[in-house]
Amino acid sequence: MTIRLGDIAPDFTQDSTEGTIRFHEWAGNSWVVLFSHPKNFTPVCTTELGALAKLKPEFDKRNVKVIGLSVDPLDAHGRWAADIAETQGAALNFPLLADADRTVSDLYGMIHPNANDTLTVRSVFVIDPNKKIRLTLTYPASTGRNFEELLRVIDSLQLTDRFSVATPADWRQGEDVIIVPSLSDEQAKERFPQGWTALKPYLRLTAQPTA
Ligand code: BEZ
Repeated sequence: MTIRLGDIAPDFTQDSTEGTIRFHEWAGNSWVVLFSHPKNFTPVCTTELGALAKLKPEFDKRNVKVIGLSVDPLDAHGRWAADIAETQGAALNFPLLADADRTVSDLYGMIHPNANDTLTVRSVFVIDPNKKIRLTLTYPASTGRNFEELLRVIDSLQLTDRFSVATPADWRQGEDVIIVPSLSDEQAKERFPQGWTALKPYLRLTAQPTA
């Protein structure tokens, strides 16, 4: 199944390291990062889960729940969690789905048969509180993800949901933003009384709105 931006994230029920997860109910009114990794007891995945565990407070601050997945069974997740804590300086602090029957991997298209017909690729889905898919990413097995980048995108999504702005390349919290082209200069004057810099009529930069 191909999941596209704007689709409703498919619901599922699956076992996890924190008990049975009924996905939509578990997500509640939070944003969610759902991500898959290829296999337990592998080096890149071990570093990824440690990195994410360390960053979890940053996701909490943004009202984002994090949930991982691999197609290994639950008992293997438990044994691997001990290795993650031992080697990465951070213990798992979010649920890891045990998708041995591939319920979730198939629903979300996380197995790419021409890459590997049994293992999940490194998929990421960012889902908003309305259960809409807002970002998809697919990384190869050999490349660990940058979870700071996910926080950056979530900051952009949460900001652009509130204000008529978009964020430029490499934007970070606090930097100038772009006034969306659909807003006329007249409308922009009302929304951005502090003004803007117009590099072109379609490229208007203004300070990041805060309230
Ligand atoms: C890893 O997580 O290290 C890994 C997993 C599958 C293939 C290659 C590397």
